[in-house]
Amino acid sequence: MTAPIRPYRSVLYIPGSKERALEKAAGLACDAIIFDLEDAVAAEAKVEARALLAKTLASTDYGQRAKIVRVNGADTEWGADDLATICPTKPDAVLLPKVETAAQVAAVKAELDAAGASETQVWAMMETPRGILAAQEIAAAPGMGGFVMGTNDLAKDLGTRFRADREPLLSSLQLCLLAARAHGIVAIDGVYNAFKDDEGLREECEQGRDMGFDGKTLIHPAQLDVANEAFAPSGSEIDLARRQIAAFEEAEANGQGVAVVDGRIVENLHVATARATLAKADAIAAMAG
Ligand code: COA
Ligand code: MG
Repeated sequence: MTAPIRPYRSVLYIPGSKERALEKAAGLACDAIIFDLEDAVAAEAKVEARALLAKTLASTDYGQRAKIVRVNGADTEWGADDLATICPTKPDAVLLPKVETAAQVAAVKAELDAAGASETQVWAMMETPRGILAAQEIAAAPGMGGFVMGTNDLAKDLGTRFRADREPLLSSLQLCLLAARAHGIVAIDGVYNAFKDDEGLREECEQGRDMGFDGKTLIHPAQLDVANEAFAPSGSEIDLARRQIAAFEEAEANGQGVAVVDGRIVENLHVATARATLAKADAIAAMAG
């Protein structure tokens, strides 16, 4: 299965308790927003944040940005009320923290259906060792739409230290990508904590893009431009895609199954990638419009 076309280059977390940031987000250049009721909101602010978020979602136009709400886990005192309040607002997705089984997804899917929100997808934070090891069954769960890598929680549970190359996390990232691609769902990379370090962010975005992630979760508006650029097809990639398609069509017209562009072979599968690149560029252009 191929990756979904809707752009998810930049997926910005906003604490559900921060009214100013909730307002500001309607004008920010992000492809998606994660409205957070979980770890970005202090325990004593949870109930108020839930009400503020429900009100804001009902009254604010976030345009084409995907609206994703991260609720508290079902094992907390807030989880059930979060779902009861958020499901009827019909966001694009409800994001569950620390998912470890397909049954957790099924329970929320049932609740969405009961609230008349069957179009709303369930997304999963992939951030515990058990969750990563169950990535395949979670990705396959009915209603599942996307994985978000929770690299901070995962690093904590694994006992890793921060490394710029993320070598200690690569197996987990790749397992989740494999599962996501096997089941045709979105895969978003984890956050880069040092939000004033553009260069470090750029390198991590490039790494995530090279691996195949659709985009990166972000914590501050200053990170948007870097992610938007890194996860969009570049001018030279678009140019190459066009030339590959043209060369292959010409080869086909001449009864050949293979073309050569810039000294490299172009077969049917490369043309599929080239078409996906152009479709993604079009989808990004449509977001800006
Ligand atoms: N989304 C939308 N707007 C945001 C934002 C966000 N995540 N983070 C900051 N802003 C806004 C602020 O409201 C401020 O707007 P204003 O100048 O118009 O009032 C502006 O951007 C500049 O903010 P700044 O002063 O640089 O940041 P800060 O010191 O107030 O906050 C953080 C820094 C990291 C605490 C804050 O960015 C944040 O809470 N990020 C999200 C954290 C999160 O959700 N974590 C959970 C997942 S890991
Ligand atoms: Mg987490």
